[in-house]
Amino acid sequence: MDIVVLVSGRGSNLKAICHAIDAGTCGANIVGVVSDRKKAAALDFVDARGIPSRVVPLRKGDDRDLWNDSLAETVTSLNPNLVVLAGFMRVLGAPLLERFPGRIINVHPALLPAFPGHNGPQDALDGGVRVSGCTVHIVDAGVDTGPIIAQAAVPVLVSDSADSLHARIQVQEHRLLPAVIHQIAIGAITLDPFTVTTPVADPSRSLTVPDA
Ligand code: GRF
Repeated sequence: MDIVVLVSGRGSNLKAICHAIDAGTCGANIVGVVSDRKKAAALDFVDARGIPSRVVPLRKGDDRDLWNDSLAETVTSLNPNLVVLAGFMRVLGAPLLERFPGRIINVHPALLPAFPGHNGPQDALDGGVRVSGCTVHIVDAGVDTGPIIAQAAVPVLVSDSADSLHARIQVQEHRLLPAVIHQIAIGAITLDPFTVTTPVADPSRSLTVPDA
């Protein structure tokens, strides 16, 4: 299964996908990485690994519709079966969503539908919850509102800062996201724009390791 990964920042989830591919536990092939930020640290890793990358920047004052068209053209030109948002900090517009209906997934650092948006870990702390985690979901036109595919939970400690909680959540993201991609690749999870068919709540627990 060919995938395109969209990033804005550090790219630790992208690295986790690459490591799972190398280990034979994620049956995907990354055909390209697209960033909205030229300086995203993820791009250094991508270049070192020889993965094709594209930057579609959105600067202050830029026309958002043109950017959405350009992003959709760029991703489409790479011809993926699945688009994976791994720390991509923009809401997608109609052009990309319409070209890949039900074939765009995102990883979010909270147990949706609680705490959507940019500050999942801090919002969980502010909300006083004792459990948080990560969610992999289908992307729709809303902010972290699409159908949930899989979740993994972590404890929230009284000593936590947003950073320490986020770090604990990311350990689970790095396990869950490659596992979900693999399960989609082998047809164990099927997606359409509105529903998810998955036999288990946490696909990483029933991971099928493909032959090397
Ligand atoms: C992750 O926590 C993800 O859930 C959120 O953005 C963060 C990206 O981290 N959407 P990284 O760039 O993959 O390290």
